[in-house]
Amino acid sequence: MQTLRVALSDRAYPVHVGAGLLQQPRLLLDTLSKPRATIVTNETVLPLYAHSVAAALQGAGVKVVTAVLPDGEEYKTAKSLDLIWETMLRARCDRQTTVIAIGGGVVGDLAGFAAATYMRGVPYVQVPTTLLAQVDSSVGGKTAINHPLGKNMIGAFYQPVSVIADIATLSSLPERELRAGLAEVIKHGLILDREFFVWLEANIERLLAREPEALTHAVSRSIAIKAGVVAIDERETGPRALLNLGHTFGHAIEAGLGFGTWLHGEAVGTGMIMAADLSCRLGRIGANDLQRVRALIAKTGLPLQGPNLGTDRYLELMSLDKKVADGRIRLVLLDEIGRAAIAESTPPEALRASLEHNVSDSTSTAATN
Ligand code: NAD
Ligand code: GLY
Repeated sequence: MQTLRVALSDRAYPVHVGAGLLQQPRLLLDTLSKPRATIVTNETVLPLYAHSVAAALQGAGVKVVTAVLPDGEEYKTAKSLDLIWETMLRARCDRQTTVIAIGGGVVGDLAGFAAATYMRGVPYVQVPTTLLAQVDSSVGGKTAINHPLGKNMIGAFYQPVSVIADIATLSSLPERELRAGLAEVIKHGLILDREFFVWLEANIERLLAREPEALTHAVSRSIAIKAGVVAIDERETGPRALLNLGHTFGHAIEAGLGFGTWLHGEAVGTGMIMAADLSCRLGRIGANDLQRVRALIAKTGLPLQGPNLGTDRYLELMSLDKKVADGRIRLVLLDEIGRAAIAESTPPEALRASLEHNVSDSTSTAATN
């Protein structure tokens, strides 16, 4: 097991990464201030992992209640949040109850927001079981629900007390979800770590084959990069926005098609191609770097073209992004592989050209490569 740290002074916390960590209940037990816990999971992850975690905690004398959510991005809503609050209220959970999120990013974001708000804040632990959640959403304290008018629009910055990323859980992950998680892994290399990007180019097949050693390296390197950014800019007033490479485009795809049609990671993958294309049009990166970005995303099996929403609709949806300032769309662009920057404004013709060039001709909404 490797233990990384998110260095946030009095709210610093460990991120444990390794295979078989859910077989070690001590890791979770040590995070509880009192023997009371609310597990938040969904109907898919409950039988796979959450049942056995609940049983192990109960066996160690912990009083456990479980909130089981329906599965899917379309349920990342106020209604699901209310289901968690209601489960906790009915069970008379107090302020010393620890919320334990077991699942992917949807469960983690919802459980984190519930923990931030229940009785004005209770501790929570992230137990991410998707690649995307292990490399991204479980670390850094962004919690949220979607609103029909925009993704992740309602939420809070609220850090967990611990993250336990068991690589073994990735063995049951559907192929499409694995690929979606790899988009966020590639993002970390692209924005801040050229060497890691080169490693990914050489090792993407090992990751797709789920070799534990390769997965452990990709997860821990991604977490180290993200933890470093969060430690210097927890509330995204500066460099944390770099972690949104591809996301302004991607969120437009997700919202434009309806949440859940494309996976978040799929939308981010295509969004990174759009961002790289725009960076190339603006002379920030060369055609060779753009080709390398496209080639790695293609090898990962992620969609290379966005759905045909119409350029005006893309721009309208992108203008709802949280990074918008004074009505201007602010985008994360590449200056080279491994170095990204925030562009405070973008020439509209170039942005339109990148959108037009990177959407599918067909009217199909399927996420196909
Ligand atoms: P997800 O939570 O929907 O999980 C994907 C699917 O995998 C679901 O059907 C889930 O039930 C299933 N699943 C989970 N673990 C499994 C396992 N081990 N075996 C088999 N099936 C399993 O999706 P996700 O990709 O994990 O997360 C996407 C969400 O994360 C989005 O809502 C996105 O906005 C959010 N996100 C948040 C942050 C953040 O910083 N908070 C960062 C990135 C993404
Ligand atoms: N996933 C972007 C962030 O955590 O800031």
